[in-house]
Amino acid sequence: MKRIAVLTSGGDAPGMNAAIRAVVRVGLDRGMEVMGIRNGYKGLLEGDCYSMGARDVGGIIQMAGTILGSARCREFETEEGQLKGLEQLRQKGIEGLVVIGGNGSQTGACALSRRGFPVVGVASTIDNDLYGSDITIGVNTALDVALEAIDRLKVTASSHHRAFLVEVMGRKCGYLALTAGIAGGAEVIVLPEKEMDPEAVAAELRAAYDKGKKHAIVVVAEGANYDAEKISEHFRANRARLGFEVRATKLGHTQRGGNPTAFDRLLGTRLGAAAAYHLKGGEHGVLVGLIKGEIATTPLEEVAGKKKPVDLRMLELAQVLAK
Ligand code: F6P
Repeated sequence: MKRIAVLTSGGDAPGMNAAIRAVVRVGLDRGMEVMGIRNGYKGLLEGDCYSMGARDVGGIIQMAGTILGSARCREFETEEGQLKGLEQLRQKGIEGLVVIGGNGSQTGACALSRRGFPVVGVASTIDNDLYGSDITIGVNTALDVALEAIDRLKVTASSHHRAFLVEVMGRKCGYLALTAGIAGGAEVIVLPEKEMDPEAVAAELRAAYDKGKKHAIVVVAEGANYDAEKISEHFRANRARLGFEVRATKLGHTQRGGNPTAFDRLLGTRLGAAAAYHLKGGEHGVLVGLIKGEIATTPLEEVAGKKKPVDLRMLELAQVLAK
């Protein structure tokens, strides 16, 4: 294989740059030319790519985001889009592709692989919902951003004897909310996998108050039916009966912009490097991820369209610890 390409797709995740850097430098070291495709599958369809040298990826390992840019591309979900993408790859003389991204991105990678094109996926999404990797690039940093916010909110919550809701990202997966809730010492955690209505949240907060707690933190996953907005609206509307209100903070995209932690820089580097080695070695049609602490591959066919479940035993633990 003489020329490969790399793209980042879907929501950016801190540590993606470390992965790009590793793909480029390992690729060059293995005697391959590495093309960077801008803006994910959208850029692929437009043929928007350039040849990357070692200096092009200098000074980026500590930066969040992706120097290649990213996009969500509906066109690539269609057969027509995928054939157009393959034609672009053929025209540019690209013989292998590294796709750094989460669920949607790896479904796209699988589609290319089914059509016979050599692809290796790199597990990257802050949501940690991707099958084939115990933890994905960006999760650790996003979690730290959430914890910093929770720690700060706890201080002011304590001063004012208030309850705060913190909404964290994660799409339909509660992993970030669950782990942020445990590590942040939350009183209540609301997940899409274990829904709670506002009355149940109120009952938990009342119990925390009765136990003499000076503050209460409720971590809510954005994908829960009752998100932070709906829960606080319910508290506002029933202020007289419930006896207290809650303040809500939505962390949103701030979670994607934190400088990658040491863990995410190392994970990005290890997975990116493994992807380049696998392409060169002729092993493709796989996702590289971290399984039981080791870099491991899983067929893209097994990854595409699947969602990794959260371990609800951790929620039971959180409930015990919130006593
Ligand atoms: O998949 C990563 C993620 O940040 C999710 O947690 C979130 O629901 C979504 O992307 C937001 O997407 P966008 O950046 O397109 O608004």
